[in-house]
Amino acid sequence: MERLRHHLLDTGYTIDGVRDRLGSMAASALAREELVPALRATADGDPLATLIRLWWLGVPVPAKDVAPEILESGLVAADGDRISATVHLQPWETGGYLVSDRKVRPGDPALHPDHVVGAGGASANLAQLVTRRPVQRALDLGTGCGVQVLHLAGRAEHIVATDLNPRALELAGLSWALSGIEGVEARAGSMYEPVEDEGFDLIVSNPPFVIAPARETKLTYRESGYDGDAFCRDLVLRTPHHLNPGGQAHFLANWLHVEGEDWHDRVGGWLGETGCDAWVVQRDVQDPAEYVELWLRDAAEQGSKRYTELYDRWLAWFDEQKVEGIGFGWITMRNSGTLDPVVRVEHLAHQVTLPVGDYVDSVLDSIATAHRAQGLDAARLRTADGLLDERIGLPGAEDPIRIVLRQTQGLRRSREVGTVEAALAGVCDGELALGPLLNVIAELVGDGEIPDSDAVRPLIAEGYFLL
Ligand SMILES: C[S@@+](CC[C@H](N)C(=O)[O-])C[C@H]1O[C@@H](n2cnc3c(N)ncnc32)[C@H](O)[C@@H]1O
Repeated sequence: MERLRHHLLDTGYTIDGVRDRLGSMAASALAREELVPALRATADGDPLATLIRLWWLGVPVPAKDVAPEILESGLVAADGDRISATVHLQPWETGGYLVSDRKVRPGDPALHPDHVVGAGGASANLAQLVTRRPVQRALDLGTGCGVQVLHLAGRAEHIVATDLNPRALELAGLSWALSGIEGVEARAGSMYEPVEDEGFDLIVSNPPFVIAPARETKLTYRESGYDGDAFCRDLVLRTPHHLNPGGQAHFLANWLHVEGEDWHDRVGGWLGETGCDAWVVQRDVQDPAEYVELWLRDAAEQGSKRYTELYDRWLAWFDEQKVEGIGFGWITMRNSGTLDPVVRVEHLAHQVTLPVGDYVDSVLDSIATAHRAQGLDAARLRTADGLLDERIGLPGAEDPIRIVLRQTQGLRRSREVGTVEAALAGVCDGELALGPLLNVIAELVGDGEIPDSDAVRPLIAEGYFLL
């Protein structure tokens, strides 16, 4: 693999190299699964064009254009004077390479149940969420093509990667070898079975979260076979047993919105049983029809003969369970070792600063501090960096109709506040205690009533004030 790795790098088969070679139009078309512009941009047969066609676009190339390193790799097959890829091999944003099964496109035969999916938007979403804090032991549960390990390498001393699908571990091993990553322990098995009683400082998983009716040929890369959203629930419930003190877990998940039930209670209920501090963020909600279409498209079923039947069956199944929507989001857990854990569940659909992993630890700290800090009167708060005070009012009016505190960093939250909180944001510099500060502010701008310092807790939890 070392020879192949050097050939890929020397040829410029990197994220930037491919982007430059394709140009923006072809790259955008490719993101829409349209190949024609990319095929036109790689018609020359030069070494980079050959690699892009063979391993990214998945089309056969003339044998005369193929370097010996590729022919010897075991990752291509010859058919007369043409060479075809047997896998999808793509450069990744970390500078490494990922090997997965070939992409399916509309019109291709149905996916094999053990298809190993390549890295995509969801993989990148999880990678950006994970804490950047260096750790001793990390676990990637459901490693697939091994993408999360590429992100963990260099931050974790020891990495264990598991998957139910042995073929995933085989291809992940190639990804790691081509990315120059050594020492990853790959183990086959379901959920936490392969790590039984082992503890980790960091657990990450982009699990098979797709919620689909049970069928004989489920797609292992996205469907667990568990009922509804039970895989994500069980993943959450079993995690505390494997989190070392102070350890953190980051998961992507889907959850059901069921008629007559608040989704906050559903997901919050999973976390409430764990004893961990937790932060759940719903980034999107789809109605059942959108959801079914998304995943039928993902399996290249659009236009297939059975599309209507699969669509109908899936929707009927959602109807039976009174499903009104499906939430997509992140779950972060921390084993804080406290008897008074806090679980925050929220919907955040707006753009946040990426990567969240750069500041996710302080988000958790803020949530926990706001919940557990005693005696806030004596607390010396500091206003978060980059906070803006926005006021809207009638022209010429002395008082604003509305004051909004807006974060320009991190989660970029905004919140309407009263004059007391706005004034507090102007003076909190970590020097004076909150109680006396509130007394002075209330006299100057309030209605004379002394605000309770506990009223500031939500603003601490959301990172407007730091303690
Ligand atoms: C959505 S893919 C994620 C792949 C990769 N980690 C990523 O971030 O893109 C989910 C992975 O979980 C694996 N998987 C499915 N069921 C599992 C189970 N019960 N236990 C462990 N892994 C499972 C699948 O084989 C697949 O590789």
